[in-house]
Amino acid sequence: MSRILILNGSPRKKGNTFFLIQELSKILIQNEHEIEILHLNDYDIKPCQGCFWCYKDFPLRCVQNDVMNGLYPSVLDSDVIVFASPIYWFNYSAQLKLFIDRLVALHVKGGHSLNGHKFACIFVYGDSSAEGSGVYTAIDSINHMIRYFRGENLGVVHGTGGDDLTVSDNPEIMKDIKDLAEKISKI
Ligand SMILES: Cc1cc2nc3c(=O)[nH]c(=O)nc-3n(C[C@H](O)[C@H](O)[C@H](O)COP(=O)(O)O)c2cc1C
Repeated sequence: MSRILILNGSPRKKGNTFFLIQELSKILIQNEHEIEILHLNDYDIKPCQGCFWCYKDFPLRCVQNDVMNGLYPSVLDSDVIVFASPIYWFNYSAQLKLFIDRLVALHVKGGHSLNGHKFACIFVYGDSSAEGSGVYTAIDSINHMIRYFRGENLGVVHGTGGDDLTVSDNPEIMKDIKDLAEKISKI
């Protein structure tokens, strides 16, 4: 049994991103994994101040002293982290960016707590083409982070969705979700 942390960067709990999160979760739960979903929009996550206090004062401490203190244990206890987000202005959402920036506080002497970690991604966009949507900027950004962690990207699922849950009508993206779930289940 693995612990899968899924970060939902969409504010819409009935939206495309969450629909795909639920589809992924169903299979992972069937395969007896433990799932935790964080709806990032529900948390008042304050932006990183770039003060590097977290570098100076080990163990973990952040000047923001906010709700992130309660979320770090979920990050640290996970075996896989899934970044799930709509594409907003050719990148992942601000909700997800706020969370990711605050991961700087998980630096430890000589490295980072997420070194060697496993990750996956789900991105949904309105544009009918991936090229036009900006999703490749989001994927590139996440892959840079994963390389920094010397981690592993288990897979990226992305596709077009609209206001009317069109991802559910897209057999390709549904198959990709199933494949990603099976890949995560094998770790
Ligand atoms: C502020 C905002 C910016 C957006 N920017 C893009 C974009 O750059 N590229 C794109 O293809 N779709 C863009 N969209 C469309 C969303 O990515 C799309 O509707 C997506 O399915 C929303 O996901 P959700 O249903 O999980 O909320 C944008 C939507 C919003 C609200």
